[in-house]
Amino acid sequence: MASLDTLFEAAKAIQAKAYAPYSRFKVGAAILTVDGQIFTGCNVENAAYPVGSCAEAGAVSAMIAGGGSRIAQIVVIGEGEHLVTPCGGCRQRIREFAAPDTPIHIAGPEGIRKSFTLDELLPFSFGPDNLTDR
Ligand code: THU
Repeated sequence: MASLDTLFEAAKAIQAKAYAPYSRFKVGAAILTVDGQIFTGCNVENAAYPVGSCAEAGAVSAMIAGGGSRIAQIVVIGEGEHLVTPCGGCRQRIREFAAPDTPIHIAGPEGIRKSFTLDELLPFSFGPDNLTDR
């Protein structure tokens, strides 16, 4: 199984590929799946601003396209001194494929700064069970 360090390096490598000419704020995300695969994504902005997509969304899409299904851990790396925690929409995207105790590691260029569980970032969340257990 890949180490957290390997996952961090994967996030950092994809962050460098981000297309962020408008915000100039590059973000990278790396997912480790429960079966040991790594999938990555970066933010991809657009001249029509709302059409841009987040790094986490790209990583989730790559995971599904690559045959992955469950997130074991995810690293998100951004710029600046603040914690680059996933936006609300991306917390929900992660929630679809993760468990309440799944770690979400927030990194800066120097390494992991803080780790949260999904449940800490998205408490009382809505998910697949809401649609099936009724
Ligand atoms: N962004 C992400 O890709 N992920 C996050 O967790 C926070 C924000 C992107 C969206 C946009 O391209 C840029 O960062 C500035 O908001």
